[in-house]
Amino acid sequence: MGCSDIAAPARSIAIGAALISEGSTDARAGNPAASGSALHSSKLRGSLVCVGLGMTLGAHITPRSRSTIEQADVVFLAVSDALVEVWVRQMHRDVRSLQAYYGEGKSRHLSYRQMVDAMLDEVRAGKRVCGAFYGHPGVFALAPHQAIAQARDEGFEATMEPGISAEDCLYADLGIDPGRFGCQHFEASQLMFYQRRLDPSAYLVLWQVGLAGDRSHQRFASGPAYLQLLVDLLAEDYPLDHPVVIYEAATLAISQPRIERLALKDLVHTALHMQSTLIVPPCQPLRHNPRMHEQLDALDRMSGVARGHPHHKENPA
Ligand SMILES: C[S@@+](CC[C@H](N)C(=O)[O-])C[C@H]1O[C@@H](n2cnc3c(N)ncnc32)[C@H](O)[C@@H]1O
Repeated sequence: MGCSDIAAPARSIAIGAALISEGSTDARAGNPAASGSALHSSKLRGSLVCVGLGMTLGAHITPRSRSTIEQADVVFLAVSDALVEVWVRQMHRDVRSLQAYYGEGKSRHLSYRQMVDAMLDEVRAGKRVCGAFYGHPGVFALAPHQAIAQARDEGFEATMEPGISAEDCLYADLGIDPGRFGCQHFEASQLMFYQRRLDPSAYLVLWQVGLAGDRSHQRFASGPAYLQLLVDLLAEDYPLDHPVVIYEAATLAISQPRIERLALKDLVHTALHMQSTLIVPPCQPLRHNPRMHEQLDALDRMSGVARGHPHHKENPA
């Protein structure tokens, strides 16, 4: 099981056209998709490239993703913001939104199947298909991975172009280095449905926290009672007054990210959205592994290596 959603339902935001023309269009150098060679080299003529648009409109798209969009025969689009759709439509005349496949009360798994089918139908028809997804197309996103796997199974060339994900943005906005104490990522519902082992000396990032506990795969928000179950589960490893962060990256260059710090127990009473991600900082210091150190000491002695300073800070800030 992976993350179950690709994008939240589209929201309409009115904004001036100046913002949506940001970013370079001249990006073809070094891009195999731009020359068409990668897209035409497979045995079968159709092809699929899933690209990431990044999180902030116009500011995060890579040159390769932009030129892949521009060179495609048809572009399928999964974004959570109506304005992003307007922006992508400026890059290509045949942009087809995948948002229509979502519906309140409709299984998201059915929606994903239909999205994959829509893209694959055009690949089979011999088209150069681009699937454009907000963020990174391979991060907590089911349909791009499934579409690429299916296209390859059927003998078509299919690749993924990375994008700037919510994860990348949170490291920048919150000043978190995942290498400092380690960082574990889970889809919030998956953490609830399965028996997992959390490491409270590392960061914990919970995706789709606004849908925590939804087994219907049909809802767009979870109620307080569902969130209370998530809090109860986390309370097995973290104190109830442990500070956590609700994070929402800015999707427009003129807006600010939401960075809301609160106690774990107060999560139940806080507004959570489809685009909310929960960050739980470590609550325990790193603990030495004496057995491993003894083994390393023995090895170092044998090879004459001097012991340096410990690489990792041992206590969460
Ligand atoms: C289906 S996943 C898609 C993630 C996306 N592929 C990416 O690269 O970030 C949806 C989840 O991503 C996170 N997400 C989406 N938009 C976000 C934003 N603006 N800020 C923070 N997290 C976001 C939330 O956890 C949300 O429930």
